[in-house]
Amino acid sequence: MGSITEPTPEYRDLIDLTGRHVLVLGGGLGIGRQTCLAAAGVGAKVSVVDVDHVRAKAVAEEVGGLALSGDATDRADVERLVGEAVARFGPVHGLADIIGISDNGPLSEVTDELWQRGLDLNLRHVFLALQIGARAMTEGGSMVFVGSVSGLRSAPNHAVYGAAKAGLANLVSTAALELGPDIRVNVVAPGQTATPRVAERHPEPDYYEKAAQQVPLGRVGRTSDIASAILFFLTDLSGWVTGQTLVVDGGAGRKFAYRL
Ligand SMILES: NC(=O)c1ccc[n+]([C@@H]2O[C@H](COP(=O)([O-])OP(=O)(O)OC[C@H]3O[C@@H](n4cnc5c(N)ncnc54)[C@H](O)[C@@H]3O)[C@@H](O)[C@H]2O)c1
Repeated sequence: MGSITEPTPEYRDLIDLTGRHVLVLGGGLGIGRQTCLAAAGVGAKVSVVDVDHVRAKAVAEEVGGLALSGDATDRADVERLVGEAVARFGPVHGLADIIGISDNGPLSEVTDELWQRGLDLNLRHVFLALQIGARAMTEGGSMVFVGSVSGLRSAPNHAVYGAAKAGLANLVSTAALELGPDIRVNVVAPGQTATPRVAERHPEPDYYEKAAQQVPLGRVGRTSDIASAILFFLTDLSGWVTGQTLVVDGGAGRKFAYRL
């Protein structure tokens, strides 16, 4: 049998985004802000998009990037935002869409308005980013979307969020088939992660301590845990990975439900 020869890559180069343009939707806070810091940390030029201009501006200043404000669920806004980002930093190499908001109530109480809002804020922007973002990307580019363990398993009071995040994972895998070989598309699905939004919703002092008891790695997630996984997908380290969902939850989802 003949030997298979292949060049050994410079592994340091695989994670290097120097000079490459990364656009982060929902980059103004929490996991999104940390993703901007991660991409800039390995050399990327970062466009920070957020519906909240003050947040976008603050993070853009931190990373020396471009602040853009607009609504990622609005087609005209997404066209404009992507256009302005490309005008400043050139074609997009990496697009990370972090936006998502969970609902909190039983299915019986979901109104038509809450249903639509849940789908818009968790799924519609993914559709728009895939369609409009892909046209602005370089060959060899990568898109990453933030799903949730709630889209893979079920939890009471997460009906709309869970349905939308499950839809996100399927939409992304379809896009991966259609956009390959030029663009890779993947999902990072976080478990319980300490972000400003979670802290606001759960002010109980022992909330994270209790949540950590369910996690084999002994703590809830940090925004940097999730940003690291996103960075893996944005860089050439994941050059032969597309259409996948990577669960980042400290192992919490691996636990058997029964005590033995
Ligand atoms: N924190 C967790 O425990 C957890 C767990 C699983 C999944 N997630 C997912 O991680 C992602 C980020 O979570 P987070 O807590 O950091 O979020 P966050 O709410 O703190 O940040 C999201 C950012 O997106 C911006 N944004 C909201 N709607 C927008 C719109 N229409 N257009 C543009 N920008 C908009 C917000 O202003 C905010 O700055 C979400 O998709 C969430 O579903 C979080």
